[in-house]
Amino acid sequence: MIMPHRDTAPLLALAVAKTSAKHSLFEEEIRKLPVPVCSVFLDESGNVRPAVFRETNSVLPSKDHERTLEIFPLTVARNKNVVLEATPATGPTQISGKRVAVLFSGGPAAGGHNVLAGLKAVLGKENTLLGIKKGPKGLINGDVFEIGCKQVSEIINTGGFDMLGTDRTKIKSPQQFAKVKETVVNNKLDGLIIAGGDDSNTNAAFIAEYLEREGVKCSVIGIPKTIDGDLAVGKYLPISFGFDTASKIYSELVGNLTQDAASAVKYWHFVKLMGRTASKITLEVALQTKPAIALISEEVAAKNMSLEDIVNYVVDIITERRLKGINHGVVLIPEGLVEFIPEMRTLIQELNKVLADYEADIKDLPTLKNKQEFIYPLLSPQSAQLMASLPEGIEEMLILDRDEHGNVKVSQIETEKLLIDKIRYRVSEIKRHPERFFGEGGGKIEATPEQIDKIKSLSLSTQSHFLGYEGRCGKPTPFDAAFTFNLGLTAGSLVLAGKTGYMAALTDFDKGGRALGLPLSGLITSEMRKGKPEEVIEKSLVELFLPSFQVFAENRDQWAREDLFSSPGPIQHWGPTSRQIPISVALDQGYADYQSFNLGEERTIEFE
Ligand code: FBP
Repeated sequence: MIMPHRDTAPLLALAVAKTSAKHSLFEEEIRKLPVPVCSVFLDESGNVRPAVFRETNSVLPSKDHERTLEIFPLTVARNKNVVLEATPATGPTQISGKRVAVLFSGGPAAGGHNVLAGLKAVLGKENTLLGIKKGPKGLINGDVFEIGCKQVSEIINTGGFDMLGTDRTKIKSPQQFAKVKETVVNNKLDGLIIAGGDDSNTNAAFIAEYLEREGVKCSVIGIPKTIDGDLAVGKYLPISFGFDTASKIYSELVGNLTQDAASAVKYWHFVKLMGRTASKITLEVALQTKPAIALISEEVAAKNMSLEDIVNYVVDIITERRLKGINHGVVLIPEGLVEFIPEMRTLIQELNKVLADYEADIKDLPTLKNKQEFIYPLLSPQSAQLMASLPEGIEEMLILDRDEHGNVKVSQIETEKLLIDKIRYRVSEIKRHPERFFGEGGGKIEATPEQIDKIKSLSLSTQSHFLGYEGRCGKPTPFDAAFTFNLGLTAGSLVLAGKTGYMAALTDFDKGGRALGLPLSGLITSEMRKGKPEEVIEKSLVELFLPSFQVFAENRDQWAREDLFSSPGPIQHWGPTSRQIPISVALDQGYADYQSFNLGEERTIEFE
């Protein structure tokens, strides 16, 4: 038996206790890390100060200009959908006495706390930063408190949203808007900042218009947050915050799985990756790790691939690898895949309509069988048949409530298990009827009798994984930490400049950073939600013509045929790989490399 040493044991016990409540050795160190600041936010002495804004020649063309004008007449009349660019303030620009509140909305994303730090730094001692607890719900309920310097010093560079919390309330009823006004007026707010995804920035656009119509002078500014990366605007906003951290966390884990697959030489790992609609995370993780297979929803939709086509595609690769003696691999599956498979999409649209029309009736039905009996006759025969062919667990998930914004809760649909079931069946068919699959011509695979016998003796061992929530609250990567701090500086500067109805944006990650204000009304489009068209901010999906997808498509056949995986390793917060930006972003923005971002000079930020 090992006896603890008399002298060191109590000291060590104390040291362990001291690292509780977010004071691990790591957290202590990262709080001290300097943050790069874009030059536009620095005065001659190198101190942080607010920037001012100039109108650029760029106008964001909303998809349906007439409709946008109808819904946002005051915003469009004032902003003209023109992009603003931050420029350094000249002369004395001391603005004081402003009260600015901030909230987080939707799913957490790494870097939220640095948005608060950036806001606190740019508002300075002369103005007040307030936090709104529990997202839009807190805005409605007036759950507001002052954020002090000590609190910001504690959270700078740390992950999570826990200082404020978040939620997904959609602000839509006249009563909710009236309550928002009450909170703004009661707290004498000059600015309201909403850090969220497409739905939350849609909230911001509507609140900006509403407050202006009500004659309440308050700047409403959005901040692009979502790990999904689907809030992006071409060259003006390459990505939303949190994407880099989430995709790096997933890449490390997928890298480990590819390594495990090749070591244990017996498993196929099916990994569903978060990203409700866009497959941007899956594409980035594929570029980082080079797995045997990565499905991209946008390609599935573009090629009109049915569920059966997808299953065949995966099984063909499994079979080809088996012919080469490789009976293992990793398959990446984007969370939103089901909504891009044409027949599933039709089924979901029909279900959305049925749920919108009979929500209360369906909710009251106690069992899945009762729900099926009610719903099936209301679907088209094809959709009813498809629904009946799905495992019960998936059926239940599809019938589940939508979120407040009308989105299917895809994170709860076990697509990876659905695919595994169908793939296993198809693989067993090959073993039972090899003559249908092997031979010459007609899409058949060439194989010798010995190879076919070998394949018949193999079993398919699968493991399923869902990498989702693990990636949202990690400590922000150095890129996300810098990106969010400067987004906070941009949003705060927009408020101090009296602008409203904009989203703070940052671009040119390779050239010192360029801070912009994007008119929210210029980003609006119409989407089907809960069976009806609704005005929302347009999602940015994987574009098949862009370099990020092209590079993946050019390489994937080789990654499928051989084990060429690579492991990007854990996120570095200092050291040689700590300055990376997402590969997909660097490719699509035409940067020279992805190894090193440049968002200005590093500053140690202190709050007193
Ligand atoms: P946001 O778009 O609000 O950032 O949320 C994205 C996300 O993380 C998706 O990837 C996922 O489908 C969803 O949130 C899960 O939401 P919830 O936290 O409500 O389970």
